[in-house]
Amino acid sequence: MRRSRVRFCAAHIRPLHPALRSWVVLACLLMLAGCAGPQSALDPAGRGAEHVARLFWWLVTGAAFVWFGVIGLTIYVLRLRPGPHNPRTASALIIGGGAVFPTVVLAGYLIYGLSLMPDLLAPAPEGSLKIAVTGERFWWRVRYLTPEGEGVELANEIRLPVGERVQLFLNSPDVIHSFWVPSIAGKIDMVPGRINTLALEPTRTGIFRGSCAEFCGDSHALMNFYVVVQEQEDFARWLAHQAESAQAPTSALARRGRDLFLSNGCGACHTIRGTPADGKVGPDLTHVGSRLSLAAGTLPNESDDFLEWIAKTEEIKPEVHMPAFGMLPQEDLQALAVYLDGLE
Ligand code: CUA
Repeated sequence: MRRSRVRFCAAHIRPLHPALRSWVVLACLLMLAGCAGPQSALDPAGRGAEHVARLFWWLVTGAAFVWFGVIGLTIYVLRLRPGPHNPRTASALIIGGGAVFPTVVLAGYLIYGLSLMPDLLAPAPEGSLKIAVTGERFWWRVRYLTPEGEGVELANEIRLPVGERVQLFLNSPDVIHSFWVPSIAGKIDMVPGRINTLALEPTRTGIFRGSCAEFCGDSHALMNFYVVVQEQEDFARWLAHQAESAQAPTSALARRGRDLFLSNGCGACHTIRGTPADGKVGPDLTHVGSRLSLAAGTLPNESDDFLEWIAKTEEIKPEVHMPAFGMLPQEDLQALAVYLDGLE
């Protein structure tokens, strides 16, 4: 009876159509392509991410062994040795495979996972670089806390020296965000009313991408940032430049842009160090022209993108605090864009 049922099932398993087979292969290749790149937890560039990736591969390997074991056993009893089995063997298999084996394997994984925690949670040593990151509506406020207490502020970009453990202090003024740079470390929530800490230790130079990993509003998916890992000397040079005031505009158009920036009240929300603009609501724009992206990874950082952003803020990023200034004449928008793009 059982044998005839098995034959019935096997008769209905047909090989995939050749065209479908090519699509399956293509889909697998595309999925594999996702394993690398600037935002992949499987292509680690930091100590924390290395632990997470190793744990992942151990889990995948274990799961594959169990899967092949179960499938092998199923084929064995259905196709190779159908019919009644020795009840003692069957009981041993149920107790051994159903209770003892999972308990031992899962306990092993639990112990391995817990053994990673001390290193994942270890703070950076005393005297390390400290950076405060705040999850805003929908961008990242980044402040380098120097020993002198004078902070260097920027937005949507974090630069780190390679091989150095850096301490992050993360919080949010209103809703919960989650800070995640998959290539460098694990993720951690940014919770209003408390400061969470995370140490980052990049192991190779490069440009990596981070995202908000907790739904926080209409533009949650547009809340990204870049992490640039540099050689120590390059990083020191960059930080020293970030601490400087904004460079004065050189062209007539850029000077007009600066005057428009100040006369249209942009300085109520934005700071440009070295000018009267000292607002704290929006991103510090002192060196905005040197950043890799605009509007938290939403647009590239060219003069045209500045123009588009200023004119259509709410269209590009729904629910953002900054109002659109599309009512300004085109030549004013252009002057503003040229000025901001020049703030390198
Ligand atoms: Cu911030 Cu999602």
